[in-house]
Amino acid sequence: MTPIFNATIGIDIGTTSVKSVLLGENGTIFAESEIQIDVNRVDSFSTEQDPNDWWIATCQSVRKIIKTTDSKFNLLGVGLSGQMHSSVFIDQKNEVIRPAILWNDVRTKSECEFINRNIGLDVLTRTVGNIAIEGFTAPKVLWLRNQEPNNYKKVKKLLLPKDFVRFKMTGEFVTEPSDAAGTLLFDIYQGKWSQEILSKLSIDESILPSVINSCDVTGFISKQASVELGLTPGLPVFGGGGDNPSGAVASGVVSPGLIQVSIGTSGTLLTPIKDITNLGDSKLHHFSHVNDNLWYLMGVILSAGESVRWLKGILNSRNNYEDFVSSVNNVPVGSKDLFFLPYLSGERTPHNDPNARGCFIGLSSQHSSEDLIRAVIEGVCYAIRDSLELVKEHDVVLDDGVRLIGGASKSDIWKKILANILGKSVYSVNFNGGPSIGAAIIGLVGGGVFKSLDEAINHLVTITRETSPEDSNKNDFQERYEKYTRLYPILREWFSSS
Ligand code: XUL
Repeated sequence: MTPIFNATIGIDIGTTSVKSVLLGENGTIFAESEIQIDVNRVDSFSTEQDPNDWWIATCQSVRKIIKTTDSKFNLLGVGLSGQMHSSVFIDQKNEVIRPAILWNDVRTKSECEFINRNIGLDVLTRTVGNIAIEGFTAPKVLWLRNQEPNNYKKVKKLLLPKDFVRFKMTGEFVTEPSDAAGTLLFDIYQGKWSQEILSKLSIDESILPSVINSCDVTGFISKQASVELGLTPGLPVFGGGGDNPSGAVASGVVSPGLIQVSIGTSGTLLTPIKDITNLGDSKLHHFSHVNDNLWYLMGVILSAGESVRWLKGILNSRNNYEDFVSSVNNVPVGSKDLFFLPYLSGERTPHNDPNARGCFIGLSSQHSSEDLIRAVIEGVCYAIRDSLELVKEHDVVLDDGVRLIGGASKSDIWKKILANILGKSVYSVNFNGGPSIGAAIIGLVGGGVFKSLDEAINHLVTITRETSPEDSNKNDFQERYEKYTRLYPILREWFSSS
């Protein structure tokens, strides 16, 4: 007789797609599905999405995984993950008021200046753990109040992407600490909404969802949602986490010293920390992890995979993504002295500059499209190295390697270039599905299969491959990284004046 496994569904509301997986308690992926969604790039500062598109894509992808698996399983519930910070505004009738303003939207420069100036960096750091940065959620609320007062008056609730999907599933307004931390309204020390910041910004706490732990049950699939999703009504929906911390569950990065790099639309480098008493004026983000009493340091670059997507589009390449990226195999290191700054939507770490813009530097008539592609991949990896250098300034003993997730983790050429530029091994893990898998693992803990996230990770996550840095290229890459770091300071003034 075929054994019946316990299983959970993990869903990730990404920027370019919604991914769902059906994960068994033994780590088997019974089925997975990905539905592409569109981003509206309103102008060179603004990106938006219709939250209802997330819901439609979620229903399609869940129905697909349920239909495509022949395995017999006992479904314990659903775990949710999603792009962090993006704002969904809901009115009294529980309808979406306007398109969501996304994490890589940098229209809120003056709102950030207002918050940082009026509240002060000290108060921000000792409450919400971070200064205001354009992508975070609180500046978007202030932007709505300043720029669209009629819409602001209608706001009953402010939700994050995965929590909007949770609302569609369960009718409940709930989030959990790892996503709450990205709003700039959540006290990461006390684990609750910050009364001090809410009152200083005159934001009413009633618009915020309640916060419970990532592995807790937040509600149950409603009758209406069960019809749309093809799931049984009454199925539990667990808290889950923001996409970066959920990805860190799938890559096993829940202990200090371990490092995760994610290269999807954004590029992030994160490392967990157990002590947030001395954050100082670090340029990194400081957010709550999905585990209790655990936080992480993170550097974020806004256009990582996005830079490759953009280049592929403008080169009109008919190759699929893998062939496009591997076409750089014969291009020499450094693309014949060509640099790319991946600041297509401004940049967060380390420059925190919404006016920064992408640049090729060093172009000549000898450069081919393959040279450009390699320069873009190298530029993204140098930008991630900037975050690694900032993490090294903290009091953490770092692992010799980084665990890579996201689209780039499927590509040997990305792994090789990243290992060389970071000067660290790049580890592949058995799950390269990242956040959706992490959300499903959170569900297995919430559903009682494992006692804790640590126990689940010990059972389920393994390193499958190591890509080591090549000694022969070490000096070249070091020299080129130093050259790269000199470019932004030269261009900063020009960016701010244009
Ligand atoms: C993290 C961030 C991005 C999004 C991408 O601070 O803004 O990595 O989470 O979905």
